[in-house]
Amino acid sequence: MKELRAKIVDIAKRRGIYWGAYEIYSGVSGFYDYGPVGALLKKNILDYWLEEFVYKDGLLLIDSPAIGPDSVYKASGHADKFTDYMVRCNSCGHAFRVDELIAEYTDNPDALSPEEINEIIQKHEIRCPDCNGEFGPVEEFHLMFSTKIGLDKLGFLRPETAQGIFVNFPTLYRVNREKLPMGVAQIGRAYRNEISPRQGMLRQREFNMAEIELFFDPETEFNKELLGDIVLPLKTMDGAELKLRAKDAYNSGIANGYTLYYMGKILRFLERVGIDISRVRFRQHHREELAHYSRDTWDCEILLSYGWVEAIGISYRGDYDLSRHMKYSGVDMRAFRKFGKEKIVQINKIVPRMELLGPRFKAMAMKIARAMEDMELTEEVSGTLRVEIDGRIYEVPEEAYEVISIEKKVTGERFVPHVIEPSFGIDRIVYAILEHSFYEREDSGYKVLRFAPQIAPVKVGVFPLMSKDGLDTIAMDILKMLRISGINAYYDDSGSIGRRYARADEIGVPYCITVDYQTKEDSTVTIRHRDTTEQKRLSRDNLRDLLRKLVLEELKFEEL
Ligand code: GLY
Repeated sequence: MKELRAKIVDIAKRRGIYWGAYEIYSGVSGFYDYGPVGALLKKNILDYWLEEFVYKDGLLLIDSPAIGPDSVYKASGHADKFTDYMVRCNSCGHAFRVDELIAEYTDNPDALSPEEINEIIQKHEIRCPDCNGEFGPVEEFHLMFSTKIGLDKLGFLRPETAQGIFVNFPTLYRVNREKLPMGVAQIGRAYRNEISPRQGMLRQREFNMAEIELFFDPETEFNKELLGDIVLPLKTMDGAELKLRAKDAYNSGIANGYTLYYMGKILRFLERVGIDISRVRFRQHHREELAHYSRDTWDCEILLSYGWVEAIGISYRGDYDLSRHMKYSGVDMRAFRKFGKEKIVQINKIVPRMELLGPRFKAMAMKIARAMEDMELTEEVSGTLRVEIDGRIYEVPEEAYEVISIEKKVTGERFVPHVIEPSFGIDRIVYAILEHSFYEREDSGYKVLRFAPQIAPVKVGVFPLMSKDGLDTIAMDILKMLRISGINAYYDDSGSIGRRYARADEIGVPYCITVDYQTKEDSTVTIRHRDTTEQKRLSRDNLRDLLRKLVLEELKFEEL
């Protein structure tokens, strides 16, 4: 398997897919550049992600800043709890994440306490992989990058794009005309100061995410019809491996309906972008493994040369984030739930005693009294009452008011919505596609990346058989015509046609057009299919429309 990885790294560097960043300064681990082929591959995956997850389901897409003030991350809990366990080698001082060190000795390294981790290190005599030295004690390491905003205001680079969505909930809810469920998506970079990343593209300090926060009313019944018949490969927290139809999984109560809905969509998405879904599973987190905000998480894992790798997480965040932001910001983050029919509820009204308010609050007494009369409280009222006017709090003593209980007709109530969050690690998906689409031709040993046409960075190669006799001019005309039509194509006239096909295969070009001497006679060209290497002759006239359909996968090569 390591051999496969070495071949991917080689082809990635040689052909401009990705490589380690800042190489001329010896590189910095955890940072990567996408080259000209990789940048397009990532972009095409994200375009397809938008189609599948945003446009098809009518989600709202937003784009918020990557740097946030510490107030946001105190509220979200990341300032306190976003940590990993690490150990340092007593001899060489190198640091390691413990989950990677102990992975082969336990099923669930992320679920262990520091004491349990220490025990495993001692029992299996785990030593420093770099110098065989002994490790010091398990330490907690904070993963957020901090920065200064302006002169001295503490800020953080976002560790997830999610908080940009949560802090905007009241505005987004209004934009959505106060309707739930409401899905909000965001694509962007996130940042985690990983302890010492050693897993190539899989563990980066600056990485690409695509996240959805689906806000819903937990009291509204989930519509099972959304689930369909798709079979989900599940590994539950007690280790059971099941293949269940999404609907049956819902009926058995294994997971929230929206979680199962997204599992189905994710499977279809991954298959379409070139992942072998027989090597995909959804693994449920153990309770001790859950992130601080999560009630239930299922990782979509893909089997790679590294083993099972989390590429997407689906977390049930409940009302955690909105409630925390409501508490920390003081802003109402609730939605409104309409009752089926009006309800009569008991509420408490405040009756101010002006004879006491007047001498105490003087000119403000009337305003305070009005504000007290406007209060409608469902909870018990007693003791000092805090009344806010224009941002100032006035404390009204218990003897200065009375409480009366009245009946009121209400049409609904406010509540904090719950959230299901599918969170996609885009770079991991890119890397997984590379591993799953790579193969070597049996006859020649030539390397191929079998990219799906829709995500292939370059769709068409255009080759003149010879760079003379006008074949090159015709090929150039075809190239221009394709480029003007929005089909990313390139021209190659060097070396034999066989070498040119091989070069195209290495960057996953699905179709190659060759202009030969027959083209001059009957205006036909050959089209070669990457996966079967089969060739057909087509008229130049409808080349553009046919290629467009082939690229969008509305037409198969066999149907030409
Ligand atoms: N928002 C999901 C994560 O941070 O992993």
